[in-house]
Parts: sequence; C-alpha cells; structure tokens
Amino acid sequence: MTIKIFTSEQEAARAVGECVNSFVRANPRAVLGLATGSTPLPLYAEMAKACAAGVDYSGVTTFNLDEYLGVPPDSEHSYRYFMEKNLFSQININPANTFVPDGTATDPERACAEYEQRIRDAGGIDIQILGIGGNGHIGFNEPPSAFDSRTRIVNLTAQTIQDNSRFFSSPEEVPRQAISMGVATILDAKRIILISYGRAKAEALRGAIEGSPDPMNPASALQGHPQVNFYLDEASASALTKQHKTN
Ligand code: PGA
Repeated sequence: MTIKIFTSEQEAARAVGECVNSFVRANPRAVLGLATGSTPLPLYAEMAKACAAGVDYSGVTTFNLDEYLGVPPDSEHSYRYFMEKNLFSQININPANTFVPDGTATDPERACAEYEQRIRDAGGIDIQILGIGGNGHIGFNEPPSAFDSRTRIVNLTAQTIQDNSRFFSSPEEVPRQAISMGVATILDAKRIILISYGRAKAEALRGAIEGSPDPMNPASALQGHPQVNFYLDEASASALTKQHKTN
C-alpha cells in the first residue's frame, strides 16, 4: 500500500492522470475500472486533456463500479449519463467498449452475473479507480459488505442517500437501490487507485488504512490487496495518526 498526500485536488488528479495515461500509452488495450461522483472529475479532465494531446483511448475498455437500480441510461441521474458527459464524450474511446451496469435490466440478478463474466472475458481490470464514501463504502458496497461479495443489488444507506441528494432535487428522489461491483470484484483488479478529497472522508480513511479489516468499513478490505495506492488531499489525510509518506 502506498499513500500520497497532495496540497490540492488538481495536483492529486495530475498525478493519477499521469499513472493512467502512461499505462494507456504502454498498453493500448488497457482495461480500466471507473467511478462516478465528484472525486474523479478532475482526473477525467486530465484524461481528456491527454487524449487531446495524443493519448489513444480507442482500444481501451472500461467498467464502471455501479449504477442506480431502475434508472434508465438516458436519465440525467444515471451513472451512464454521468460517464458519457464527463468522460466518454471527451476521449476517443469506442462506445462499445464502455460498460456500466444496466439499472433497467429485466433480470437484474442475471445482469449482475453477466457483468462479472464480461470483466473476466476482458481479461480483468488493470487499474481500478475508486472514491470512498464518508461511511467507507467503495462502489456502492455499503457497510456491512462481505469481502467476498460480487456484483449484486445493494440497498443504499441513509447517509449515502443524503450525500448523493445534492445531485437530485430532494433526498426522496434518490434511488434506494443500486447494482454494484462487489468488494471481491474490486479486489480482483490488478492495481487499485483510491482518490479522496475533503475532511468528510478522513475518519473513513483512517479506518480503511489503519484499522483492522472490517466489513463495517468496506474500504478496509483494500489492505488485503497487493497493489493499492491512495491519493489524498491533506484534509482527507488529516485523521491518519501514523507517519505516512507525503508526495
Ligand atoms: P464523491 O463520492 O466522489 O461524490 O465524494 C465518492 C463515493 O461515494 O464513493
């Protein structure tokens, strides 16, 4: 595990962007795991900038962590819509190679199993980008989430509904369920990069990095992964008690 601490979101995003873009340059058929939320937006801007400067995304495949259950892909609240707007339309990726769980599948459980199979068929995820919830969730793996969980239908916690209500006109409008990659699905990625900004994530990060692995803090499962890198701003790193390497 490595922990890098940056003085600004932009600096952290530039550093992660350099990792991702240099991986894509060296591996034109890279498989990337992607996240939604506010955290990855500066990274996606870096990827768009790199693509405009010549990094070729046309052979890259992506898998997103999650999608709201029952929300159609063309709804402005869907994570598919978020990804189209903030990344896929900004890079030269082949739309057929972008995968987001289907929140409107007629048989969602089967769709979950198929999503797992698609990831395997693609050869697995090379780099998984993660944010973290204030409750320690990764993807929509809410506490408690079993470390051997796979892509499945999950119930969102009251805190997550509250946190995500900023994207809706009221908390009542936030879907109560989602499809999410499981903790074990995430741990299968060859490399994991978790990005976090802001004080609201600090306690969850302390548990994830310094606590004992505990399903009540799903991000603590990352301690069992051989190649995980945390990219934090100072506010997110502020509750860490041990000496960690700064950038
Ligand atoms: P945020 O969400 O990036 O919008 O803070 C992260 C998460 O909940 O995983």
